[in-house]
Amino acid sequence: QNREATSGIRTLRSKGARSDTLRGHRVSSQLDEIVKQEQLLFSLRNLVTKEWPNAELHLYGSCANSFGVSNSDIDVCLAINNSELSKLDILLRLADILKSGNLQNVQALPHARVPIVKLMDPVTGISCDICINNLLAVINTKLLKDYAQVDKRLRQLAFIVKHWAKCRQVNETYQGTLSSYAYVLMCIHFLQSRKPAILPCLQGMKVTYKAVVDDIEYSYYDQVEKLHNFGAHNKESIAQLLWAFFHYWAYKHDYTKDVISVRIAGTISKHAKDWTRRIGNDRHLICIEDPFEVTHDLGRVVDKFSIKILREEFERAADILQYDPNPTVTLFEPY
Ligand code: CTP
Ligand code: MG
Repeated sequence: QNREATSGIRTLRSKGARSDTLRGHRVSSQLDEIVKQEQLLFSLRNLVTKEWPNAELHLYGSCANSFGVSNSDIDVCLAINNSELSKLDILLRLADILKSGNLQNVQALPHARVPIVKLMDPVTGISCDICINNLLAVINTKLLKDYAQVDKRLRQLAFIVKHWAKCRQVNETYQGTLSSYAYVLMCIHFLQSRKPAILPCLQGMKVTYKAVVDDIEYSYYDQVEKLHNFGAHNKESIAQLLWAFFHYWAYKHDYTKDVISVRIAGTISKHAKDWTRRIGNDRHLICIEDPFEVTHDLGRVVDKFSIKILREEFERAADILQYDPNPTVTLFEPY
């Protein structure tokens, strides 16, 4: 019996050692990735500032908002104040500069919804998309990152929801479903609405961060290191929250009347925003207000077919988490 007990301990110890090694490996490969990203950003900055000394390059999206999985591709925004050149001219000039700088597959896509230059860096192997003056994306990237630092359940929930959305093919804006950015906002809104709240309303607190874009000021509270205990009164587990998230979007949300708003940590009526009827291609069938660009409904890509698909997927997920004996498999079954 003693021998069994000792060998049990040994097995446990060796498992522990193995997971430490795995964790060590993961941390070092994450570090590798960050170092490579910095290296690429450094050489891009060198190239760009030779032509435009006052231009800046910022990371945005999942490589910088802390909601990305390991994947070394990066999204970059070129911030440039140049009244002589049109945005198109800047984009084309940027592509020329990059081509002369030993980068591969440089391609300008001026007619994309967000015009970009794509490239691949042969030194680090990283692919990169560069957009011009999309500074609100840089600011909302910081907002998401700041919210993630308040309570770790936000990242846990958002990772699962993003993974679910990709498996179930409801993360494709060109097919009328929602962007990852929209899903993260839905998670933030949901955690702000728990009782007691798990996340605060950073845009409703004392201003500690300000940025000006096109003469409009955007501000919020960003001293999130002081908010580490904010959600401590709420003891809900990630399993409970995941079910409640899907249950909310399946059965509780009022799709005919409500707009969700992270900016006010609540809902606003569609009527108040004048989002009650279809204007052009904007149908407002599920309404998610952008926290800074408040006239922008992130649900505007959703049409009368995809809203049905989305709502059926929310119901499917809620029902699986409630009744399925093996939910972790069924929930993510590829569509
Ligand atoms: N963005 C935005 N407005 C949108 C969609 C996206 O401002 N309607 C910006 C946000 O800054 C967002 C970034 O573009 O962080 C990238 O969006 P998206 O690809 O949806 O999110 P990621 O976090 O990059 O998710 P994924 O890992 O799926 O690429
Ligand atoms: Mg992305």
